[in-house]
Amino acid sequence: MCGIVAYIGDKEAYPIIIEGLRRLEYRGYDSSGVSILNGDIHTVKKKGKVQALVDAAEGVNLEGTIGIGHTRWATHGKPDDINAHPHNSGNKRLSLIHNGIIENYSTLKKALIELGHVFHSETDTEVLIHLIEEYQTRNNCDLEEAVRLALKKVVGAYAIVVIDSQDPNTIVGARKSSPLVLGIGENEYFLASDASPIIKYTNKVVYLNDEEIVKISRNGSFTIKTIGNELVKSPTIKELDLKLEELEKDGYDHFMLKEIFQQPTTIAESMRGRINADEGWIQLNGLERYMKRFMNAKRITLVACGTSWHSALIAEYLFEELARIPTDVEYASEFRYRKPIVYSDDIVIALSQSGETADTLAALELAKEKGALTYGIVNVVGSSIARITDSGSYIHAGPEIGVASTKAFTSQLVVLTLMALRLGQEKGNISEGEFRELLQAMEDLPRRVEKILELNDKIKFIASEIQESNHALYLGRGLNFPIALEGALKLKEISYVHAEGYPAAEMKHGPIALIDENMPVIVIATNLSAREKIVSNIQEVKARKGIVIAIVKEGDDIINEMADYTIEIPGTMETLTPLLSVIPLQLLSYHIAVMRECNVDQPRNLAKSVTVE
Ligand code: G6P
Repeated sequence: MCGIVAYIGDKEAYPIIIEGLRRLEYRGYDSSGVSILNGDIHTVKKKGKVQALVDAAEGVNLEGTIGIGHTRWATHGKPDDINAHPHNSGNKRLSLIHNGIIENYSTLKKALIELGHVFHSETDTEVLIHLIEEYQTRNNCDLEEAVRLALKKVVGAYAIVVIDSQDPNTIVGARKSSPLVLGIGENEYFLASDASPIIKYTNKVVYLNDEEIVKISRNGSFTIKTIGNELVKSPTIKELDLKLEELEKDGYDHFMLKEIFQQPTTIAESMRGRINADEGWIQLNGLERYMKRFMNAKRITLVACGTSWHSALIAEYLFEELARIPTDVEYASEFRYRKPIVYSDDIVIALSQSGETADTLAALELAKEKGALTYGIVNVVGSSIARITDSGSYIHAGPEIGVASTKAFTSQLVVLTLMALRLGQEKGNISEGEFRELLQAMEDLPRRVEKILELNDKIKFIASEIQESNHALYLGRGLNFPIALEGALKLKEISYVHAEGYPAAEMKHGPIALIDENMPVIVIATNLSAREKIVSNIQEVKARKGIVIAIVKEGDDIINEMADYTIEIPGTMETLTPLLSVIPLQLLSYHIAVMRECNVDQPRNLAKSVTVE
């Protein structure tokens, strides 16, 4: 949450920062701001999207080759011009941007007020810049030392960047539990929440670790220290394999639509080099390395949030069915606060697109403390979860920018299915024939997804028929129950339509009371094992005049007759059905959101990466 970007070099900083903020806007978009250092610090900040900032900055002199910028997702203090970042020190010498939450800000604020500091905003961040100012003035030290001393007093999460008008050749950044990447260009450096603002200029990056402070000097050097004042010798410089085109809309109206349509490719990418149906093998290096631990594990616990939690629910079916390992699924936020029992031979798997979700990270830390093996299934390379876990597998879906997760979900399912199959094989629970058949079906998935995407116009038509409904019910059984949850979440997130996902059989224990001629009921009926029961559930909805939209396997004439609308998708093996049945639901919610004139890629109140609790 919140995007931060900073530049020092020989180019004009403002355009680089604005471009960077536009790339980071997915992390928060309720206000934004910049500070450029040119003699004094010049700060412009504005409520609203980055474009509002650009409009406000028109005519202001923001020339300079060092600066910082921020796009905000409000936590402390409403979104307005004053609470927007950067925040400046009382003596106007320092300017700071921050992503995270300073938990002990009220105690610090009280102490600073007693020392004569005057605050203007309601944010926790303003406290931090006053604290840095206090240390700098009191100790007469340089910016880096003042930042270090202030951070020693801080409880909470932060990624920060600070500039000092008395030292125009230096930028200082630091992180704890919120991401910060250093980009190393030619005669220029960048600091940002992720690599997207950097990649146009350089692919050389250093991912800062928790409680590290980086000091960048314009003369072309940087040093990293810990908050405990120890120098980090030879920090690892990584070369990223990220292309600028991957961050563009590529002719699509929205990132979400692009990402839905990328799925034939992204699904194939998550399997690449890990599966061979002809030779009959699956190999995930992160898993092979710990195969013994997995074989001896009495339990796997999956922790995640949002859409990733829905992938985890599907994994529970897969791990128990194919690998016969007892599996629990937990909301990361609940797990971390409820004193869970974790044994040292447990395996805790974290699922996260961003690899930065604060609750998921905290759940992993707790699992580590208890001695469990931690495994990350993550999209963003080099992200915090990828780095703190003992092992893991990237999903290789490429950058996902639309706030509503689509391609990352299907890629997570691919990796989870590969894991379940490989574990089942190793345990001897799957026959060779079934194993090979499943591998073949997996390799066929991209082709099947392409066929579903050809139904886009039909799905758009169905969307037009139900776009005015303010409620929707999604029903599924077995592996398609989490898909019902995911379909409902997609609709809620981007269309602001109230939607609920339910196991179809549970409908009669409550939600059936909601059904009348105005209620669209989306029934996911692609799994054949539960088909007869689903047919009865559809009858129950029809008997109460509900509008039935059924997702079925091609050629299912019986449901086709009963439903008001059907979306027929290609068949696959039962285990893989969720990977296909979710795609029409992604398209349905996309079209409804567009028809309702909602901001598809940046829905209100949401952010892509939730780095606060
Ligand atoms: C936010 C996003 C969701 C996402 C969830 C978990 O709420 O808006 O789309 O599913 O975070 O994110 P993660 O990056 O951990 O998968």
